[in-house]
Amino acid sequence: MTPLHPGSAVVVGASGGIGGALVRALAEAAVHAPIFAMSRSSSSVPPGVRSFPIDLTDEATIEAAAAAVGEAGAVGLVIVATGLLHQAGVSPEKTVRSLDPATMAAVFSVNTIGPALVAKHFVPLLARRERCVFAALSARVGSIGDNRLGGWYAYRASKAALNQILQTLGIEVARSRPEAIVVGLHPGTVASGLSQPFRPDATADGVFSPEESAAHLLHVLNGLGPDDTGGVFAWDGSQIPA
Ligand SMILES: NC(=O)c1ccc[n+]([C@@H]2O[C@H](COP(=O)([O-])OP(=O)(O)OC[C@H]3O[C@@H](n4cnc5c(N)ncnc54)[C@H](OP(=O)(O)O)[C@@H]3O)[C@@H](O)[C@H]2O)c1
Repeated sequence: MTPLHPGSAVVVGASGGIGGALVRALAEAAVHAPIFAMSRSSSSVPPGVRSFPIDLTDEATIEAAAAAVGEAGAVGLVIVATGLLHQAGVSPEKTVRSLDPATMAAVFSVNTIGPALVAKHFVPLLARRERCVFAALSARVGSIGDNRLGGWYAYRASKAALNQILQTLGIEVARSRPEAIVVGLHPGTVASGLSQPFRPDATADGVFSPEESAAHLLHVLNGLGPDDTGGVFAWDGSQIPA
């Protein structure tokens, strides 16, 4: 497999469990330079990594972050590792009776619209002729074909919509950047703030540490090619049905 363009790498959501682990893994791998760690809250980053503030609900911050990255030359890798499942006043719905428009809008704003706006401002920075990646963390529960359990309406639907955004984006990006790879990623069940209320035992079987998940995801990305664009891939490399 041809290596990714060695220009900048960008992780959006660097204050998160998986996003932080991705930044550390990329810094250790030393393939990309510079590395940009973008986050809403401040986060500690390895030496040499550049931090930048970003709030996915405020497009001006995304635009400003992209302008700073653009000054450093072409980008080889963008990973959007942000996400919202619960926060004060937001929790995943067990029944349709719990649906609340403001909660749904908040979840879509972070999980669907935010990554789409990151694509709007960062895709133009991707290398034009070399192999490069735009990836966003989705979730297996966003698969419509795989939905056997129900529940979690807003989170599921926001990830399904994200997957559609990525498919649409992939078609467009292929016209100007035939070597680009645009995909969604399912990180597995990972011990983080997002999963903690639902998987409180971080040591349980089947729960990855953020470091394990980040290593899996970077391995999966390294094995993908432009023909995989538009797909959603799990931590083990398997493709998740739409
Ligand atoms: N953990 C799992 O088991 C699991 C399973 C399937 C899919 N995923 C997906 O993996 C991704 C990462 O999850 P995680 O487990 O690492 O969760 P996490 O630790 O809760 O991290 C979520 C990140 O999203 C950021 N974020 C939320 N709203 C934002 C906004 N408006 N602007 C900018 N950043 C914002 C958070 O920033 P702050 O620090 O500022 O809040 C944080 O950096 C998510 O897309 C999630 O859906 C996770």
